[in-house]
Amino acid sequence: MTDATIKQQSTQPKRFRGKPRGRELDPARLEGLRELLGDERQNATLRRRDLLIEHLHAIQDARGHLLLAELRALATYMNLPMAAVYETATFYAHFDVIHDDQLPPPAVTIRVCDSLTCQLAGAEALKAQLEANVDVEQVRVLRAPCMGRCDTAPVAEVGHHHVLFATQARIASVIEEGHFHPEPVNWQRLDDYRSEGGLALLQACREGDVTVDELMEAMQQANLRGLGGAGFPTFKKWYFVRQEAGPRYCAINADEGEPGTFKDRYYLERSPHRFLEGALVSAWAVEAESIYVTSIRPCMACCARRLVSLRPQGGSRRAISCCAVARARISAAKSRR
Ligand code: FES
Repeated sequence: MTDATIKQQSTQPKRFRGKPRGRELDPARLEGLRELLGDERQNATLRRRDLLIEHLHAIQDARGHLLLAELRALATYMNLPMAAVYETATFYAHFDVIHDDQLPPPAVTIRVCDSLTCQLAGAEALKAQLEANVDVEQVRVLRAPCMGRCDTAPVAEVGHHHVLFATQARIASVIEEGHFHPEPVNWQRLDDYRSEGGLALLQACREGDVTVDELMEAMQQANLRGLGGAGFPTFKKWYFVRQEAGPRYCAINADEGEPGTFKDRYYLERSPHRFLEGALVSAWAVEAESIYVTSIRPCMACCARRLVSLRPQGGSRRAISCCAVARARISAAKSRR
């Protein structure tokens, strides 16, 4: 192609390609989001990408579902591609994405866990029983993946309320009482944790009473290993990470989404400060500037808030997010000395 051809082409008017792809933004939906979530034009932090899940939860809780039109408005609100918003919203079972040609769901949703432990405990029969007896105008029955309560299988969730050792009668009484919210969890408070010697190690690390070498030696002696499958020794992991140039990050996977697992949720809900101290000590050991925690469990909301309260004097609290599907990024930049 010659320069003359290129020039000629570039001066030709562009061909009209029709309407832009996808549905157009509904300005009223965007205004509705601003009322619900806050005005992102006044407060740019509301556009932080890590708030996406939190915003989705806020909309789901307020409306009972996620209309596609509202997701489009959210994409504009957060300046994110619609694909990113849609993929995230449809990834998790507890978000109800309603397409433009669908009707909103009934007011009450019963989710019956269909993962392995609950299947063994009769979840399939329970779901069939429920489906045969509910008023479909008022209640819908869905399958859902493991709810992290496998020790009380079969488990169902009515709204956000988990019904343990679920039976049709128990579920019916929850609906009758309108008890759709989660049960509060009694967790160990910071003062109680401190009174049992909690945070002493973190303090000793920060004050130089314990060195990284001593800590790694203790990890080796304790034979502490990862439980992700490889069983990789923790002290070696720390050693290798320390050999890498910064910036370094500490990533903690608290998702335990596979069926049959619930131990982490149990412990995180009840003893969050132990987890948080461990996270801060490991971040200190590898000189990580941030800690990322991912979890689909609501307990992480509590953990993330506690971690903020434990940050050292002057430590940043930027980019902290915590919600039922939590992605908490806690800056620990100044947690090391
Ligand atoms: S398998 Fe049902 S709660 Fe885990």
